[in-house]
Amino acid sequence: MWLHNLCFLARFNSQVVRLLTGIEIHPGATIGHRLFIDHGMGVVIGETAIVGDDVTIYQGVTLGGTGKEKGKRHPTIGNNVSIGSGAKLLGNITIGENCRIGAGSVVLRNVPDNATVVGVPGHMVLRAGKRVVITDPKEISDPLSDVIIKLGAEVHELRQRFQDHTHEALNAEPDISIDQESAASGNGKKKFSPADLFGDDYQI
Ligand SMILES: CC(C)(COP(=O)(O)OP(=O)(O)OC[C@H]1O[C@@H](n2cnc3c(N)ncnc32)[C@H](O)[C@@H]1OP(=O)(O)O)[C@@H](O)C(=O)NCCC(=O)NCCS
Repeated sequence: MWLHNLCFLARFNSQVVRLLTGIEIHPGATIGHRLFIDHGMGVVIGETAIVGDDVTIYQGVTLGGTGKEKGKRHPTIGNNVSIGSGAKLLGNITIGENCRIGAGSVVLRNVPDNATVVGVPGHMVLRAGKRVVITDPKEISDPLSDVIIKLGAEVHELRQRFQDHTHEALNAEPDISIDQESAASGNGKKKFSPADLFGDDYQI
């Protein structure tokens, strides 16, 4: 109807369905095959949103605009994506294929394929099933990764300056010290390497 310039009828139809189900899909949105909206209620899909095939959306999800963009201003969702309840995906962003968006997330940046994004603002915690710290700023904004990367760079520089100043040899790898009140080691302080903490599958 929308494509055939029957805008009023398309809008009317959309509003009737919204009254019945609590799901508001703008008639201009492009929806793929087998979209599954679980529980309905409070789902909003904006006019320029594009939803791929086999996407699952839970209640309270918004595929909306930020209010700052014109033209294509709603998200593009890849195939086989699952979007948890209450998640807000805002702006002309692209969510890659096979992604999972955590319940309650607010996603404002593009998300690469096979990623799991959680939190506010949304940041990637898993990629292809593995925990990740993002080092490429173009990939996705992750406040925690940013802090770790900055600390790593600062430790590197300080070690360099210390060595230049004292000519003292330092251990090759800085360890991370963590207070472990319940640690079995006795003195309450135990040292962990990043590998101890995060396991072999941690990518930096
Ligand atoms: C995002 C999601 C898919 C991740 O599932 P998963 O792959 O099993 O990942 P994990 O549970 O191992 O979580 C990975 C990390 O993200 C965190 N996390 C998971 N979901 C989160 C969320 N919604 N918000 C914030 N952090 C979240 C976990 O605490 C964990 O962090 P940690 O390792 O530092 O403890 C899942 O948690 C989710 O939110 N699903 C939505 C389900 C939904 O909406 N159901 C509605 C039914 S009505």
